[in-house]
Amino acid sequence: MTSTPDAKAPAGEVVLEAIGLTKHFPVRRRLRDLFSQRHDAVHAVDDVHLTLRRGQVTALVGESGSGKSTVARLLAQLYPRTGGDIRLHGESTAVKSGAAFRRYCARVQMIFQDPFASLNPVHTIRYHLTRSLKIHGHAGRTAEDLENALHELLGRVHLTPAERYLDKFPHELSGGQRQRVAIARALGAEPEALLADEPVSMLDVSIRLGILNLLRDLKERLDLAILYITHDIASARYFADQTLVMYAGRMVEGGDSETVTQSPAHPYTRLLIGSAPDPDRLAGDTDVLEEDRGDGEPPSLIRPPSGCRFHPRCPVAMPRCSTDLPVPLEIGDRPGHWAACWLYDTSGTEVRKVPS
Ligand SMILES: Nc1ncnc2c1ncn2[C@@H]1O[C@H](COP(=O)(O)OP(=O)(O)OP(=O)(O)O)[C@@H](O)[C@H]1O
Ligand SMILES: [Mg+2]
Repeated sequence: MTSTPDAKAPAGEVVLEAIGLTKHFPVRRRLRDLFSQRHDAVHAVDDVHLTLRRGQVTALVGESGSGKSTVARLLAQLYPRTGGDIRLHGESTAVKSGAAFRRYCARVQMIFQDPFASLNPVHTIRYHLTRSLKIHGHAGRTAEDLENALHELLGRVHLTPAERYLDKFPHELSGGQRQRVAIARALGAEPEALLADEPVSMLDVSIRLGILNLLRDLKERLDLAILYITHDIASARYFADQTLVMYAGRMVEGGDSETVTQSPAHPYTRLLIGSAPDPDRLAGDTDVLEEDRGDGEPPSLIRPPSGCRFHPRCPVAMPRCSTDLPVPLEIGDRPGHWAACWLYDTSGTEVRKVPS
């Protein structure tokens, strides 16, 4: 296998980009709707911009139903998009099936939440990994080449000695080992980008760190661009270089992970951090204001709130928040830290009105 990254490509180079990515799922129409002009849709993802760079982890954080998995599936080209663009090394891509889809998959691989569901229970680890190597043309020419490639793949995910694992079935492995096999299978394609959709949330707490450390190690050794989807903002701080926060289908805040998690700007990010268990706060050393708790339910995505989608839950909402869609605004504390929140509008310009 030759998976050392292209020596000419600089670290930090943009691998994958989403520009104004939008996905609306049509809602199935009932009989009485046939006579009306209404075409309801779930506004799962609206106008999402994100950039994955070589050798960096970008975390995408948000509560259940905020659209994180939909973003990953769009980036993996598993769904057609309603709007926007996906660029791989600057080139616009929209692939549906066939050879173009396989070529895209070789460069952008996905890792799912449930490693048990993503591995076929009737096949051995050898079968899963061999298939990945063969599909992507990395199995070599001889049986010995294949065996070496299999050993190398398992070595990369620290399942050694390989002989102990190759002929096992998924149910004979622990959850953490299964997720390592799923990662090895993704690496069999020699990808440039990994889209990891909650890769540790189904694992025991005790082994989560091991998998995150493995992904970090792979990021460094193979210069991978990683999208790390999670609802656990604390793990984003530990693991990701950049953090993006999503609420009800829209990006609300972004910046380097340290800044977003230590000095959150958007009231929703503050709410997320405020609801994560933190030993300092339990000890009474709190900097999260009482009014930042933002009680309430996530909104309907069929008829999302006008203006800022967070305004019905926002403890500091202003009148304009219910009518004007907030644009990303620089916070000014650290370069690249932004929030889509009118609290940070100092100019009063750049207002985009949305129909209510
Ligand atoms: N195939 C689909 N058809 C219709 N609606 C969908 C489909 N997939 C997702 N949705 C809706 O889109 C919204 C976003 O879902 P998504 O799975 O992307 O959220 P998520 O942030 O990954 O949530 P979780 O943390 O629970 O995994 C939800 O309201 C969901 O019901
Ligand atoms: Mg999800």
